[in-house]
Amino acid sequence: MRRIGVLISGRGSNLQALIAAVERGELEAQIAVVISNRADAGGLELARQAGIEALAINHRDFATRDDFDARLAQELRDRQVGLVCLAGFMRLVGARLLDAFPNAVLNIHPSLLPAFPGVDAQQQALRHGVKVSGATVHLVTGELDAGPIVVQASVPVREDDTIATLSARILVEEHRIYPEAVRMVLGGCWRVEGRRFIITG
Ligand code: GRF
Repeated sequence: MRRIGVLISGRGSNLQALIAAVERGELEAQIAVVISNRADAGGLELARQAGIEALAINHRDFATRDDFDARLAQELRDRQVGLVCLAGFMRLVGARLLDAFPNAVLNIHPSLLPAFPGVDAQQQALRHGVKVSGATVHLVTGELDAGPIVVQASVPVREDDTIATLSARILVEEHRIYPEAVRMVLGGCWRVEGRRFIITG
């Protein structure tokens, strides 16, 4: 069985979408462990309710990012994880984790990358006045929100949108495309060429 590790920092609605996809049999995988850098992350409770091991590892307990990443990599490897999914994980991941999981770390971002990387993507989109925004699942590289794009989905931006209404519309798409992207990556019929994620099968 293909084993996934999910890293979170907060409420975990994308984690819940992955759990639901596994439970419905739409994603042939097992979520082996959920790790949060915050002990109060709601997603930890969601994981436990689903019978998934849930760990809190506080990044502040480590002297450097490298040390924190090395610990994450160790916990994931100990559980034979093959694919790491960042789902609202609010820490930059560095070489120690990425080298341990080459082309095997995914992230979901609430904009149509490369537009609006980083924090507050929905607010950036509203301020810019774009008419369309969306969600992106991409492979994680050393460059923030810039790795090969696996799946994207667009949503309209309305005149009267607030951060809350736009975020909610994007979130519906996030929950749909994250399991889809994980399925695609686990399927293995793809390769990376430069920035491009290319489906081969
Ligand atoms: C999502 O909008 C995701 O795209 C971003 O952080 C948010 C996490 O939400 N990276 P949740 O914890 O999955 O509900």
